[in-house]
Amino acid sequence: MAQNFLPKRLPNLFLVLALATAIYSAKATNLKETNLSLYFPDILAPGATSSTVIPVAGVASKAQTFTQFGIVFVTDDFITESADPNPLEVGRAQYMYMTAGLDRLNSHVMISIVFTNKEYSGSTLEIQGVSKQFEVVREVSVVAGTGKFRFARGYATFETYSYHVATHAVIRCNVTVQHY
Ligand SMILES: *[C@@H]1O[C@H](CO)[C@@H](O)[C@H](O)[C@H]1NC(C)=O
Ligand SMILES: *[C@@H]1O[C@H](CO)[C@@H](O)[C@H](O)[C@H]1NC(C)=O
Repeated sequence: MAQNFLPKRLPNLFLVLALATAIYSAKATNLKETNLSLYFPDILAPGATSSTVIPVAGVASKAQTFTQFGIVFVTDDFITESADPNPLEVGRAQYMYMTAGLDRLNSHVMISIVFTNKEYSGSTLEIQGVSKQFEVVREVSVVAGTGKFRFARGYATFETYSYHVATHAVIRCNVTVQHY
């Protein structure tokens, strides 16, 4: 029984594999690549109504700082396409991040970029992974997207673009994504 079964089924398996490979490579060539440079002005003033970042969980009696293992922050930053003093908002970065390394060096970030500008309005990008928070350039994976960024995959780099006396930092985020 098994001897009859094998020779009949195997060619089918190869056909399926060959087809799958052909479909995969046809699709892969249709991928577009998009590079974006986005600026996140983080307003850090604690307690200020303009503050865009708040700690939502921490460790009782421990300071609410980025260097506290277990702390969780929620942020809603507007995103601009340049670092001008009065730049145009192109979207929001709505995210959560937590200091997830016992050595306090690594932060785990989950960032939704929600575009509101004309070109990408209604589209989103999801950035998720470890951010080595004390490195000059932090690279995090882009794992998914919607709208114009369906099936997005790629990477994003974060770097502090400017920093003003602990109340206002501008982060530059360069995104390279492949998508349909
Ligand atoms: C996007 O940026 C990467 C890295 O700088 C570069 O290699 C690539 O050619 C760029 N792609 C496009 C479409 O500009
Ligand atoms: C981000 O992109 C800008 C150009 O838009 C470039 O000057 C800068 O070096 C890039 N940063 C990184 C970390 O690649």
